[in-house]
Amino acid sequence: MTKPILDALAGKAHSSPVWMMRQAGRHLPEYRELRKTFSFLDMLKNPQAAAQASFQPIERYDVDGVIVFSDILVPLQALGMDLDFQPGPILKNPIRSLREFQLLLEPNLRESASSILETLNILREELRRLPKKTLLGFAGAPYTLATYAIEGKSSKHFEYVKGWLYKDPKGFLTILDRLADLTIEYLLLQNQAGAEAVQLFDTWAGELSLEEYTKMVLPSTQKIFEALKHHGIPSILYANGASHLIDAQILSGADAISVDWRRDISFYVDKIPAGIGIQGNLDPSMLFAPEKRIIQETNRILQAVRGRGNHILNLGHGLHPTTPIEGVKTFVRTAREFSF
Ligand code: CP3
Repeated sequence: MTKPILDALAGKAHSSPVWMMRQAGRHLPEYRELRKTFSFLDMLKNPQAAAQASFQPIERYDVDGVIVFSDILVPLQALGMDLDFQPGPILKNPIRSLREFQLLLEPNLRESASSILETLNILREELRRLPKKTLLGFAGAPYTLATYAIEGKSSKHFEYVKGWLYKDPKGFLTILDRLADLTIEYLLLQNQAGAEAVQLFDTWAGELSLEEYTKMVLPSTQKIFEALKHHGIPSILYANGASHLIDAQILSGADAISVDWRRDISFYVDKIPAGIGIQGNLDPSMLFAPEKRIIQETNRILQAVRGRGNHILNLGHGLHPTTPIEGVKTFVRTAREFSF
């Protein structure tokens, strides 16, 4: 039996499979129930609970992908950084110099990532009875990880990160290269533990110009996708608000590019070569719209990619925590009912 998401990543899909970024989490009452017993970070350390959270969207929506429940910032703990969620992420001692970066620990990922690897093992076993579902691993891309490691929290203007990048490009490239090596090791371990395809989240890359992205971020991104390709691991690259970066993302080596809603899907269908897949791109806020509008907009996306063989239906960014269940159901049902 073939798996629709893997088929799409190989360019051989007959219809568009569907999953959603942040499909597990606070919009689900059963997740909020589970969270009553654990803090977010404690839950990530409990593979049974994390596997349960990963599985909840499958039970409720029957989507084609199961993304392992974790967070892109968890690997920063392996470097010795102190991570907390309140509920936004806080890193207590942000990195502000190359010296501080060099003082971080040499991570033993097999050990420090043992919870997520165990969660993947559990999910792989559970998915034996659902052979069409694809188990997805993920990691934060070096630039986006660096924004949190350097700013210490979510940021609006990225003063410290960009200040560093413009003042000391060579030092900054060294950091991204080291984070790329860490990311490669992390994704290979996830693959060995059961992840059949992986998504690299470069959420904040869209804050950079095309020139800066190409010079500063593309090299470490290409290094990661080259390693994944070498190991035969299907891959997706996501960045938010990044339509101006598309020409560079095409050169990343990712099997598919996950795009947001700020440009019409037809823009990406024209731009992205036929050999590279497209994932996206409904505005997550569209799930708050009346049923008729959700159906119309979802169908419009599916119509535009018809015949491509490598489209994965998704949102343009993660589900918002207040998203109505009915909106999500309409989105998934529309994908199922579309006739290709
Ligand atoms: O369902 C899934 O997609 C799998 C799990 C997942 C989470 N975070 C769970 C989570 C994934 C893939 C992520 C990725 C992630 N985390 C990104 C990249 C994607 C994106 O959304 O842009 C980023 C930037 C983060 C960093 C992060 N984690 C922030 C800024 C926050 C706080 C804001 C918020 O949404 O709460 C988190 C916490 C987080 N990660 C939660 C979940 C379910 C909320 C935890 C809770 O309070 O229960």
